[in-house]
Amino acid sequence: MKEFSPITQPHLSIPHQVAWQSPSNIALVKYWGKYDPQLPANPSVSLTLNQCRTNTSVWCGPRPSAATGTYSFEFLLSGTPKPDFHPKIEGFFHRISSYLPFLTQVHLRIESENTFPHSSGIASSASAMSALALCLWQIARGAEALSDPEFYRQASYLARLGSGSACRSIWGPVVVWGETPGIPQASQEFGWASDRVHPVFADYQDTILLIDQGQKSVSSTVGHQLMVGHPFAEARFKQAHDHLGQMMEVLAQGDLDRFIDLVEREALTLHALMMASNPSFVLMKPATLAVIEKIRAYRKATQNPVCFTLDAGANVHVLYPKSISKTVLQWIQDELVVYCEKESYICDTVGSGSSPING
Ligand code: PMV
Repeated sequence: MKEFSPITQPHLSIPHQVAWQSPSNIALVKYWGKYDPQLPANPSVSLTLNQCRTNTSVWCGPRPSAATGTYSFEFLLSGTPKPDFHPKIEGFFHRISSYLPFLTQVHLRIESENTFPHSSGIASSASAMSALALCLWQIARGAEALSDPEFYRQASYLARLGSGSACRSIWGPVVVWGETPGIPQASQEFGWASDRVHPVFADYQDTILLIDQGQKSVSSTVGHQLMVGHPFAEARFKQAHDHLGQMMEVLAQGDLDRFIDLVEREALTLHALMMASNPSFVLMKPATLAVIEKIRAYRKATQNPVCFTLDAGANVHVLYPKSISKTVLQWIQDELVVYCEKESYICDTVGSGSSPING
């Protein structure tokens, strides 16, 4: 991004505290495969969520004279210090420190909490990295920058360097990441919020069935790597461009039949790629497949436009319009919750993105 220059003279008033909340997002056309520096091998588009959020506050103060590392910081999750997260945060700082040189000159106390259970198997990197990027960028640019649309594009750029999908969590309801023919605004480096979204998607429902709440058996870092030399990589990347173009039409027109067809094929393609990788991974559980079959049978029997998508894990996102939410939620409770670990599920809806927490 041309206009993105390092802030060498930040508006730093120390000590200083800022806080942001940022949601998770669920990809409809999946990003799978990347190259340095955290750029996507194919374009993706997601729905921003609303309930699954990370709230992060960052206190920025003087660097203690005894500090020895490149960066001086603490990280607390739900009030508990979590040193095991330090390498990931340090890696992020390392990737963004040329844009935020003050990172080596201060002490940061980062406090985060997720509104969803940490062990739920829900990817928290998108919400966590976008909330942290927004905090750091506000510290660098000052509160007056919040009215500048560039502020958010630049925050998305930084968030991408923390976790690729995080760059899509800044806005809602529909965000594209990655260059593709036909969308001149789309960039490899930051997300772009589409302004052509049919009202049916503005409050679409996502009920997340927590099939397996354990640690993911393949991290997304390892997963993206599997696309290097993957026998189907070239065809997949080409398909993603094609699917993205179709998906943007569907999202603008509100064509639910085509939406369902594309969303489910994208989800299964992501898992098919993992199954065909070397080494190969099967991330679906028997209950994931049972739920998929149930959803397809229910849709056939009722004609209700309910479909599924999957992340890189066993959990199932059940997507449907708000207008039928009462009926569908009842059916989920009657028929699907039994497949969830500890009968756990999260009712989410499409949301509008990140916002500062005042107070
Ligand atoms: O942002 P990462 O590196 O955690 O990768 C996310 C990959 C998927 O969630 C599987 C797909 C996507 O586009 O969000």
